[in-house]
Amino acid sequence: MIRLGVTGAAGRMGEAVIETAAGREDVEVAFGIDAADVEDVQGVPVYKPAAFADLLDSHEPDAVIDFTVPDAAIEFATDCADAGVPLVTGTTGHDDLQFETVAAASEQIPVLKATNFARGIQALLRTVSAAVEALPGYDIEVTETHHNGKRDAPSGTANTILEEIEDARGEDFEEVYGREGLQPREAGEVGVHVRRAGDIRGEHEIMLAGNDEAVTLTHRAEDRGVFAAGAIDAAVWLSDQDPGWYEFADVIDS
Ligand SMILES: NC(=O)c1ccc[n+]([C@@H]2O[C@H](COP(=O)([O-])OP(=O)(O)OC[C@H]3O[C@@H](n4cnc5c(N)ncnc54)[C@H](OP(=O)(O)O)[C@@H]3O)[C@@H](O)[C@H]2O)c1
Repeated sequence: MIRLGVTGAAGRMGEAVIETAAGREDVEVAFGIDAADVEDVQGVPVYKPAAFADLLDSHEPDAVIDFTVPDAAIEFATDCADAGVPLVTGTTGHDDLQFETVAAASEQIPVLKATNFARGIQALLRTVSAAVEALPGYDIEVTETHHNGKRDAPSGTANTILEEIEDARGEDFEEVYGREGLQPREAGEVGVHVRRAGDIRGEHEIMLAGNDEAVTLTHRAEDRGVFAAGAIDAAVWLSDQDPGWYEFADVIDS
């Protein structure tokens, strides 16, 4: 059994992690952290962010799972590095500088950062790569849909899909975010479309079209539990690793 700290404990994903952990025998959540004024989530005590470093010292968790916002995530990464506690972070929307700060922590501790902890997304990424390589010259459009509370756009997962397309094509391309007015498609560009509505957990669709045919690859998360379970699997795996930078594919492949 490993012990976890959860940052963003009162948020949509933090709550899902605590709920999922309660149903498992290999983990327990020792404490939560959140900016919101909440005393506990499902019986797990929740503290303010200023208490985080002290809680790492007093509770000595085996790993921290973070689902917050980029500004907070980089502070938690630095505190985890100082305390020697492995960090799993699913927070998305970092700019380059924020990303580098999280990456720097991996010189001292194991850090696993993933834009999506669904196993199906790992399969989708591999399928996208195979489809792009098999269909050179086809037009590609990426569409993602999330709930109306999501802060960053396009989603971190959509950005990961775009990186996968770039790797598979072996060359840079222009990303066109939505289209309006007179804006004919240019050869090679990839359209990126973002929808925000209701409580949709997360949908990603990649369309490849050409040669009088279209191929559509879609992943749809039905419940936040899929991300929570993946993040917990990642924390269990990461708690045994050496300092370094890891991806969710490392967990799946192992
Ligand atoms: N990798 C994946 O599989 C995956 C899946 C889903 C979501 N995500 C990402 O995870 C992140 C969180 O998503 P969510 O839907 O759970 O968002 P959310 O519901 O807004 O939860 C974020 C929580 O973090 C809290 N918070 C904000 N600033 C903080 C700080 N400085 N210290 C501690 N807590 C702080 C928020 O409190 P306030 O509301 O009071 O600000 C909120 O309770 C987003 O970046 C999202 O894109 C990743």
